[in-house]
Amino acid sequence: MFKLPGLIDPHVHVREPGQIHKEDWDSATQAALAGGVTMILAMPNTKPPIFDASTLDLALDSAKRKARCDYAQFLGAGPDNADAVAALAPKAAGLKMYLDSTFGELRLNDMTLWMPHFQKFPKDYPIVLHSESRTMAAGILFATLYDRPVHIAHVSLKEEILLIKAAKERGIKVTCEVCPHHLYLTTPSPLHPSPSGRGDGGEGRLEVRPRLATQQDVDALWENLDVIDCFATDHAPHTLAEKDSENPPPGFPGLETLLPLLLTAVDSGRLTLDDLIQKSVINPRKIFRLPEQPETWVEVDETAEYEIKAEHQFTHCGWTPFEGWKVKGKVRKVVLRGRVAFEDGKVLAERGYGRNVRS
Ligand code: NCD
Ligand code: ZN
Repeated sequence: MFKLPGLIDPHVHVREPGQIHKEDWDSATQAALAGGVTMILAMPNTKPPIFDASTLDLALDSAKRKARCDYAQFLGAGPDNADAVAALAPKAAGLKMYLDSTFGELRLNDMTLWMPHFQKFPKDYPIVLHSESRTMAAGILFATLYDRPVHIAHVSLKEEILLIKAAKERGIKVTCEVCPHHLYLTTPSPLHPSPSGRGDGGEGRLEVRPRLATQQDVDALWENLDVIDCFATDHAPHTLAEKDSENPPPGFPGLETLLPLLLTAVDSGRLTLDDLIQKSVINPRKIFRLPEQPETWVEVDETAEYEIKAEHQFTHCGWTPFEGWKVKGKVRKVVLRGRVAFEDGKVLAERGYGRNVRS
């Protein structure tokens, strides 16, 4: 048994307001605690999206009533809200800019729409980019031109991690995160071969943005662990019915599998415990300027071996891309600000115990 500091997950889709059949502030923060995560940064592609003062209030009101772990809420960059979001910066986790298509309606197609955000958003609050491949190169150029830090979400490709490495070597203010699914899963090998043979139990579940990549890409991420600043789940719950439908939305749940998967990598010698703490606690705290959580820790049984099962999870979505995976390392207990928040499979923190770290 050993103790870790509470993990910070800088990339979580809580789905409230608007899509609470997928997840809400209660279930998302229960999933977080069960996964040893004591602070989440919530993404703005909700319904409505969080892009001004009244929608920010909408999200924060629900969070205040329901969250069981600590949190902050991102703002979304829209075509004409650069002044509004810049003024709200101190109340938010940061600004999320969607430069590529994904779930939701926040994509900024035209680079002229990026400019006012890069000009106006305060430099000491983070801008996070959903940017893939060449869009990422453009985003890094913007960081250079406007001389401000950017954080690249969910890096998945070899060309991306090598580009970020080169940018860092040049002193460009870029940081990045990688998700466990991009470290562990490749496409096209189906995760869930359909027992019916109709292809209804696999393909939709594999949909995620950025897409799963090749073994070469996965290897490049592992080979460049020192370029990766943070681990993030991109916890993006959609129900099983939605995933297995004609039009499967992209996204995987991840809060409850993050730490077990990372501990399994520690067990097999692919990752050090120091690296895990650096990328899941220390670096996110620094990059997003988050406060320390006093009297907060996670007790882990590093010898416990078990199978990941959706039925044991707190997320509402009812599935995991890691179903049946054997992992080593279990969260036994989570203490958040002096109170036991999770123990032996039970969430003990109450609704509303979570604090907005930007208030
Ligand atoms: C995310 C979602 O469902 O909100 N989906 C995903 O595949 N990652 C959106 C996103 O982060 O791109
Ligand atoms: Zn996301």
